[in-house]
Amino acid sequence: MNKISIGFIGYGNMAQAMAKGLIKENVVSPQNIYACARHYDKLVHNAKQLGVVACESAADVVRAADMVIIAVKPYQIEEVVGALAHALIGKIVVSVAAGYTFDKYEKLLPKEVHHISTSPNTPIEVGAGILICENRHNLSEEEYRIFCQIFEPIALIEEADTSQLSIAGTICGCTPAYTAMYMEALADAAVKHGLTRQAAYRMVAQMIYGTGKLYLETETHPGIMKDRVCSPNGTTIKGVASLERDGFRGAVISAIDAAESKE
Ligand SMILES: NC(=O)c1ccc[n+]([C@@H]2O[C@H](COP(=O)([O-])OP(=O)(O)OC[C@H]3O[C@@H](n4cnc5c(N)ncnc54)[C@H](OP(=O)(O)O)[C@@H]3O)[C@@H](O)[C@H]2O)c1
Repeated sequence: MNKISIGFIGYGNMAQAMAKGLIKENVVSPQNIYACARHYDKLVHNAKQLGVVACESAADVVRAADMVIIAVKPYQIEEVVGALAHALIGKIVVSVAAGYTFDKYEKLLPKEVHHISTSPNTPIEVGAGILICENRHNLSEEEYRIFCQIFEPIALIEEADTSQLSIAGTICGCTPAYTAMYMEALADAAVKHGLTRQAAYRMVAQMIYGTGKLYLETETHPGIMKDRVCSPNGTTIKGVASLERDGFRGAVISAIDAAESKE
C-alpha cells in the first residue's frame, strides 16, 4: 500500500486530517501524497507540516495520483472537478464532499470515471475515524478492495444507502462537536469539585474512548452498560435521574433534528 499515490484536490481541514491519519498509520508515505488548493502559499505552508507534495494545479495532482480525493467544498465541485473530468479516467476517485452523491457525479463525469462518495469525520486524523460510504458506486471489486485497504487502518468503514447519507453524516460528522461540548461540561463539573482541568480532560477523554471501545468490542447494549454501573440506591442512578429530569436524551435528539433540518 505504501506505493500507492494519493492526491487531494483541496487541502483544507478534512484533507489534512485524512493525510495525517494515513501518514500516522503508515498507510502512505508523505512523498506519495500530492495536494493542491486555491492559495498556493498557504498550501506550501500546510504541505510542509507533513512533508506532502504541494502541486500548483489540480491537473498536476491528478497526473501524479492513483487515487484522487475530492476535498473541496460541495459548491466548488462543478468548477474544479468538471474541468478535470476526462483526466480522472483510470483513477480511483473518492469524494468527501457532503451531499455530493453518486448521481451528481454521474452527471458531471464521463461514464468511464470510477468514483465513490463518502463522508469522513475528523477523528480520522488519529486513525479513529468513521468513513460513511454511499453503497452506490462504480469502483471495480479490485478498486474497492484497494479503497478499503487504504481507509480501514484509519476509519471504520460503514456503507449507507443514498437516502441515509445525510443522517449518517450528521451522526458521525457533527457529533464530535457535541461530544467535545459534553467533555467540556464534564470537565467544568470536575473542576468545580476540585480536579485540575488537565486531569479532568484526560479522564473524560479516556472514559468516552473506553465506553465506545467497550461497545465496539462486546456489542453490549448501551442500556445494559448503563445498568451495570447503576447500583440500587447508588450515586450513578441519582445522576441518571437528574439527567432525565433535565431532558438529556431529548436535548440530544433535538440537536440532531436541528442539524438535519439544515436551516
Ligand atoms: N470538516 C469536516 O468535518 C467535514 C466532514 C465531512 C465532510 N467534509 C467535506 O470535506 C470537504 C472539505 O471541507 P473542509 O472542511 O476541509 O473545507 P476547507 O477547510 O475550507 O478546505 C477546502 C479546500 O479547498 C480548496 N479549494 C478551494 N477552491 C479550490 C480550487 N479552485 N482548486 C483547488 N482547491 C480549492 C481550499 O483552498 P484554500 O484554502 O487555498 O482556499 C481548501 O484547501 C467539503 O466538501 C466538506 O463537505 C468535511
